[in-house]
Amino acid sequence: MSENINFTIDGVEIKAKHGETILEAADKAGVYIPRLCYMKGLIPHGSCRVCTVMVNGRPQAACTQPVVNGIVVENNTPALQTHRRNLIDMLFVEGNHFCMFCEKSGNCELQAMAYRFGIAAPKYPYSFPAKDIDASHPDIFIDRNRCILCGRCVSTSRDIDGKSTFGFVGRGPHKKIAVNADKDLGDTNADVKDKAASSCPVGALMIKRVGYAVPLGNRKYDKKPIGSEIESSKSN
Ligand code: FES
Repeated sequence: MSENINFTIDGVEIKAKHGETILEAADKAGVYIPRLCYMKGLIPHGSCRVCTVMVNGRPQAACTQPVVNGIVVENNTPALQTHRRNLIDMLFVEGNHFCMFCEKSGNCELQAMAYRFGIAAPKYPYSFPAKDIDASHPDIFIDRNRCILCGRCVSTSRDIDGKSTFGFVGRGPHKKIAVNADKDLGDTNADVKDKAASSCPVGALMIKRVGYAVPLGNRKYDKKPIGSEIESSKSN
């Protein structure tokens, strides 16, 4: 199944292999498609929809949609950028994100995405939901105020750590990350060395006592916009 596939993104010819997703092929070609829930090495589940592209005129999640010969993909259009920006805006107001007080600032993919999209202040009203913090574990804490429900910790714990420490409970605005214990994270077998402990794109799942090891201003997205590592890999 190493059949070569040719398709276009915004008019640029892209070569891919059978079985790759649009997002994987785009990454290899140095074309950045914004994403939040996708994490390399995990089975993509297409929950955040930030990676939405138009495929032959229809919206699809680039992280789950396989490449097909001859498809015409649109990525960088005003309509798609507005759609993505609206999703990012909604994530900010559906949680309690105070970047200036968050240890993840500068390494946070949501914050970096907001900067990339030029969001200085959300356009929707804040909802200030009541969310809880679980600091019961000696080495890891959960701050649900910052959780964007991407599911990375759920997939990482289940598929890589083989533990299923995390899962979702509730629906709609009541949906939240839960742990596989009667009570708190401290009652699970979660370990600071679990891959899940460092899978969070925001500051919702954090490792204790390592805060500010890298000073603010010197962090990953303080230096370069999110996605620039993919764009700078473009060969031509
Ligand atoms: S990155 Fe594709 S749906 Fe989230």
